[in-house]
Amino acid sequence: MIILCRCSPIRQILRRCHRQAVENSSNKANLTAYLGKWPEKEQQEFRQHMRIITDFISETEEQQLHEEIEPYISRLRYEFDHWDDAIHGFRETERKKWFPQNREILERVRQVAFDGAIMPYVHILDLAPDGVIKAHVDSTRYCGTTISGISLLSDSVMRLVRTDAQRYQQKSSGTAATEPESESESKGSEPDAAYRHQPKASLENNFYADLLLPRRSLYIMSHTARYNFTHEILAKEQSEFQGTLVPKTRRISIICRNEP
Ligand code: OGA
Ligand code: MN
Repeated sequence: MIILCRCSPIRQILRRCHRQAVENSSNKANLTAYLGKWPEKEQQEFRQHMRIITDFISETEEQQLHEEIEPYISRLRYEFDHWDDAIHGFRETERKKWFPQNREILERVRQVAFDGAIMPYVHILDLAPDGVIKAHVDSTRYCGTTISGISLLSDSVMRLVRTDAQRYQQKSSGTAATEPESESESKGSEPDAAYRHQPKASLENNFYADLLLPRRSLYIMSHTARYNFTHEILAKEQSEFQGTLVPKTRRISIICRNEP
């Protein structure tokens, strides 16, 4: 076994590669890798409905947000217990009242990502370095057409995989798959009970996208990207973007949604 000390040449190269991958990608705004065979129309729609804005917040703003969140979130315990849950190694909370300077950031999110209002409670998700968000679709019962997230503290890779239109569709989504309503594969006896559905969506014979989410970026996931694709945050062992390791440490996301 090779043990890499902090200053080893391999580590330095990895660090440089990583920095370059992040920089290249943000410079060319090429943060999305399309994998598998994409029908052209699907890809066009996806481009419109899955956007990433790099450096949406400054380092100072990241720190301000973190300072407001940390006293609350650090009292909670990371949950690793239920392996079949959609998220593993996380703690989460909601917040309605924000310090004025952070309220201003959320107002910017509203203007950029949403036509109208956002839900008053903003969702804060703290993912441990070993944490993972497994492939899921947010229930249409609890969340509208658009979901946006600011990433704090770490870069990460988000994967969106096309769900099987024949087998998975949620109700009341304007641009959802056109196939007739069929089985819902959410957990629990009630079809829509789970906050996060976990439909099967395999990579084989399918198409999907990997997105590099740099620290301090904002992603906006709406319509087809929100309804017809699962989304997940790759575990640190799988956290690669176009062949380059993207080190994932502790990551906090600040997630805004609109009303269903
Ligand atoms: C979720 C989710 C993504 C993120 O909480 O349902 O998908 O950016 N979060 O943390
Ligand atoms: Mn989600």
